[in-house]
Amino acid sequence: MRRTNTCGELRAEDIGKQVCLQGWVRFSRDHGGVAFIDLADRYGITQIVFDPEDLPKGTDVNAMADTMKTFTRESVVSIVGTVRKRVEGTDDARNPTGEVEVLITEAELLNKSAAPPFEIGDQKEGVLPNEDTRMKYRYLDLRRTEMIQAMEFRSKFLHLARQYLEQNSFLEIETPILGRSTPEGARDYVVPSRVHPGTFYALPQSPQLFKQMLMVGSMDRYYQVARCFRDEDSRKDRQPEFTQLDMEMSFVDMADIQNMIEGLLSFVWKGLYGKELETPFPRIAYRDAMERFGSDKPDMRYGLEFVKLTDVVKDVPYQIFQRILAEGGIVAGINLGDGSAKVGRNEVDRYIHYAKNKAKLGGLTWMRCENGVLTSNITKYFTPEILENIKQAMNVKEGDLIFLIAGPWKATYEGGGVLRRKIAEDLGLVPDDVFQFFWMVDCPMFEVDPVSGKYDAFHHPFVLPLNDINDDYVAGACFDICLNGNELGSGSLRIHNADLQRAVLEKLGVPDETIEKEFGWFIQALGYGAPPHGGIAMGVDRLIAILLNKETIRDVIAFPKNKRAVSLLDNSPEKIDDSKLEELQILSLATGDLDLESLEDIDSDEQ
Ligand code: AMO
Repeated sequence: MRRTNTCGELRAEDIGKQVCLQGWVRFSRDHGGVAFIDLADRYGITQIVFDPEDLPKGTDVNAMADTMKTFTRESVVSIVGTVRKRVEGTDDARNPTGEVEVLITEAELLNKSAAPPFEIGDQKEGVLPNEDTRMKYRYLDLRRTEMIQAMEFRSKFLHLARQYLEQNSFLEIETPILGRSTPEGARDYVVPSRVHPGTFYALPQSPQLFKQMLMVGSMDRYYQVARCFRDEDSRKDRQPEFTQLDMEMSFVDMADIQNMIEGLLSFVWKGLYGKELETPFPRIAYRDAMERFGSDKPDMRYGLEFVKLTDVVKDVPYQIFQRILAEGGIVAGINLGDGSAKVGRNEVDRYIHYAKNKAKLGGLTWMRCENGVLTSNITKYFTPEILENIKQAMNVKEGDLIFLIAGPWKATYEGGGVLRRKIAEDLGLVPDDVFQFFWMVDCPMFEVDPVSGKYDAFHHPFVLPLNDINDDYVAGACFDICLNGNELGSGSLRIHNADLQRAVLEKLGVPDETIEKEFGWFIQALGYGAPPHGGIAMGVDRLIAILLNKETIRDVIAFPKNKRAVSLLDNSPEKIDDSKLEELQILSLATGDLDLESLEDIDSDEQ
């Protein structure tokens, strides 16, 4: 018999029906010769009962009993039986099929499973095997309800996103995986060419240049669920191989791109949760984000904002601050407010340690308001007026604990942001049921290394500068979308003028030769009527992981690499045979024996 129902489908109204279910034996227990089996598939779990006393006349009971013995854990089986109501009091209200069970009349083992290395039930955290074991047996890990739900959610998200984009005239277009390097700030994965020994393709860090080419090619609106490859250290929100929802649009301004994303996320929200998503998302300028929250992707679900104290303490006799201010640095403070009482002297020491070692801050100064005045081991270096002004500026109340950070602008605020997150977590200020999207706007075009004076692109070198690139400060037409302290995506208007593109690359210190060699083709294309255009890419893995409250994006990717960029399932990366290296002429390349000049041209278009 063919499968009539899934294991998640049967309800009280099916009682009396003859059904055929096929799935995996999740658990089985024997009650005095009567076997109860939880039969599972992607859709759910149905209880199956084998009762030798209750078989149709003419059934070979012994043969059936033998078959049932083969129904070991995680074996895949097929059963035929009758749906019946469960015995009074044995209903399982948590399971949608929990009112019924199927009394077996026929059973067949489809494929026996080896003893699984871990139990596939709905384990609570802590009962789960370690992550490497889960990765090695990912096909078993995927059978867990939590993983099934993640895959379903991800699929639904992508389906809805595609639906919305198609409705808005976007074309889904695939761009090459084998190509030239696309600079997004990471290292490339490279692929050797057999046809042209000694040459390599780079896997795309993003489809950036190709999507811009599509705009030059008049496609007007493009999107792709794009696989990107970046050889960078793995983190909980980073994989060597990940997915972007990548878009590009012609004849738009920044607001058009942001509106499109807000529309897309609202549409998806409705589809996923049946609820409206509040739009427009709030906007915060990059500088404000850094100075208030110590991050360019701040978590704004809670307060704990920094207050700039540079002016307040400018005449302070405290030498450390004096030196920092003389070097052009900043001083800022954070008030723990109502949480102060939870942070005693020992915890303060722990934060000082954390600030130096984890947040990479030069140090951490603390003060507590006692009997109306700020006191600590260093307040003797502060005048009473300055202490009073700090109190005012930071709205300090009796008992409040404040931390002061000081140093160069960027590093200090970034370190402060790390500390702020730690304090918020410790004080239990981070709600896990709030999704707060916002746009980080008003970004610079370049970042200048304070030591070398070297220019770096704030986003990437293709962002449109909003003023003369030789001005002291150059604004970039770029922005990020953030969610709960994470950067979800980044977008920008692009340079569409060939000369300007060349000038920006020059400003970034790219040598003329490299510009020609690596970007010549791209700059040339801009010269053939490139329209004004812009776009954005959102990290799909990150978005799904945040929406599902997962610790790491590895939990929303079917086959992720582990923390060491290894795929434990297929044991890649792997050394390759010398014979393959020879075929690719890599060995000759390594030993300098490869004579590139003598290689023949191969026209492989012929059959
Ligand atoms: P960016 O480099 O900011 O922009 O990437 C966009 C988004 O992709 C996600 N992301 C990652 N996710 C998982 N693992 C990684 N290693 C990883 N790296 C990035 C993040 C990030 O916000 N071409 C530009 C976009 C554009 O300008 O249109 C780009 O790739 O969520």
